[in-house]
Amino acid sequence: MLSFSNAAPRASVAVASSPLTPPPSALKFTPMSYETLTCTVDDHIATLTVNRPDKLNALNDRTIEELSEAIEDLRSRTDIGGAILTGAGRAFVAGADIGELERHGAISAKALAQRGQAVFRRFETSPKPIIAAINGFALGGGCELAMACHIRVASETAKFGQPEVKLGLIPGYGGTQRLPRLVGKGRALHLLLSGEMIDAQEALRIGLVNRVVPAAELMASATGMLRQILSNAPLAIAHCLEVVDRGLDASLDEALTLEATAFGLLAATDDKREGTRAFLEKRAAAFAGA
Ligand code: COA
Repeated sequence: MLSFSNAAPRASVAVASSPLTPPPSALKFTPMSYETLTCTVDDHIATLTVNRPDKLNALNDRTIEELSEAIEDLRSRTDIGGAILTGAGRAFVAGADIGELERHGAISAKALAQRGQAVFRRFETSPKPIIAAINGFALGGGCELAMACHIRVASETAKFGQPEVKLGLIPGYGGTQRLPRLVGKGRALHLLLSGEMIDAQEALRIGLVNRVVPAAELMASATGMLRQILSNAPLAIAHCLEVVDRGLDASLDEALTLEATAFGLLAATDDKREGTRAFLEKRAAAFAGA
């Protein structure tokens, strides 16, 4: 339906030597056509919107495939520094498409889960920060998709839950694993076993979301948070994301080695020289991403 449009294709971008901002001749603006997503890019920030509002943005096969295409595009495009993921209408994403789920048997359902898990993992391991702007229902696969993003900002009207047990299922897109990692085992099990919905304030209280804002301020808040992150050194951001992701599943000693190695690598970058000098010279740093 809508395409990957570039609201403002910045050929004359700010820092010529940044990996995010190559010379104009190297910029590729690949138009992508999606049926179930929209994507716009403005000033290095991509906004990806799941767009099946009549089905509360439920994730059917097509949407999963388009999310896969979109994340690869976001990861590879040199004009994109980070992304906001949101939903059209009154839902963020109300879960996997139950109409499609109903038709799956054992083998195909396992493949479906593994495909969705792989796509969500590409979001989680993106070296570019991705913020979920949760505008409404984030249920089942929707809550799982939000958890695969790096940071979650919720509207006051958002609702969260993992209601799969009500359908005779369990989460299949990572919910049984990411939810306890985010909120702790006891709270996760309560949500997973009860299938109960919680509101945005409760999601904030248990650590499922980072911030709750009035609905009208959601996109501005998420964009402002992303813009602040993108003002920092890009290689430091990418390494921080990687070390946190890999370290959480390693032993503490292995994880500390990962951290020290990345710290050492970053110490050799121009950005580290610029960042430390800028501080000492009492001026704003101008990072080149190198
Ligand atoms: N899969 C497929 N369709 C879905 C859907 C899903 N996960 N969630 C909502 N829809 C569809 C509804 O079937 C309905 O379609 P229709 O108008 O063609 O009948 C439309 O979206 C609107 O939903 P509706 O249930 O009428 O809205 P509501 O405001 O009364 O209830 C919810 C909203 C989110 C509470 C309810 O839709 C719901 O419980 N959805 C399923 C959530 C879920 O179990 N997700 C996990 C799936 S594994």
